[in-house]
Amino acid sequence: MTVTDRWQDGAPYERYVGRWSRLVAERFVDSLDAERGIRWLDVGCGTGALTAAAIERWSPSSILGVDPSEGFLAAARERPGIAGRAEARFVVGDAQHLPVPDDAVDVVVSGLVLNFVPDAAAAVAEFTRVAAPGGLVAAYVWDYADGMRMLRTFWDAAASVDPAASELDEGRRFPTCRPEPLRELWSGSPGMDADSVRVEPVEIDTVFSDFDDLWAPFLGGQGPAPTYLASVTDATREAIRDRMRQSVAPATRSDGSIAMRARTWAVIGRLG
Ligand SMILES: C[S@@+](CC[C@H](N)C(=O)[O-])C[C@H]1O[C@@H](n2cnc3c(N)ncnc32)[C@H](O)[C@@H]1O
Repeated sequence: MTVTDRWQDGAPYERYVGRWSRLVAERFVDSLDAERGIRWLDVGCGTGALTAAAIERWSPSSILGVDPSEGFLAAARERPGIAGRAEARFVVGDAQHLPVPDDAVDVVVSGLVLNFVPDAAAAVAEFTRVAAPGGLVAAYVWDYADGMRMLRTFWDAAASVDPAASELDEGRRFPTCRPEPLRELWSGSPGMDADSVRVEPVEIDTVFSDFDDLWAPFLGGQGPAPTYLASVTDATREAIRDRMRQSVAPATRSDGSIAMRARTWAVIGRLG
């Protein structure tokens, strides 16, 4: 089975993962050893969660968002905290061939993107090419295999109903999203000071008001799991929903809300 990951429409993405990626972005930028008033690049900026968090926390002198999806960039330009900010610009582009000159920025960040890039090492080489000497290069990805409980629960439910879904399981598809592969990617990238590289978890609580608040965003068609779900029959979709409802029962509180943890792995390094 092949399913293409779709990234086009900002509104359903926001309801699905965007609302959580904002929380991760805020925590991640807080953990960075950056300074105010310097030049930032956000690769795979999507609807602008990380760009907005960087502006709020670090007041960059400039911040450029690059993403292949014009639909997501349109949402980023309108995002509260970004709209009307002269220092923020957005251009269509690919992480593997950044439309940015050498040594042009002081900080390169990329949130929840690397696993979607066909050649992650080429992307990291681009990050180090465009960062100035001494620049900070940092990224994070969901821990699909384990700690991102919302997606882990979904793929486990899907595979138990439809064995073909297991080959689309992001925990299996994205082996880069573990500490050691991330460390290797950073340490092996040209110009990186290997001693500066650290990998650490950035975790948030994902709290859903009820089961529908967890399930309905999976029907929005943006991202791997919703794209898969749009490709199956109604009966399969309903069986996955019912299986997922059973499996989140232990995490359901007396008011019906469902609390899960979501972990990303962040990798951070400096150029020599
Ligand atoms: C899960 S979203 C993350 C968006 C945003 N950074 C955030 O934290 O909400 C993944 C993003 O990666 C982008 N993307 C996919 N392939 C890419 C590539 N080759 N180069 C750059 N961005 C890419 C998608 O368009 C999408 O915006």
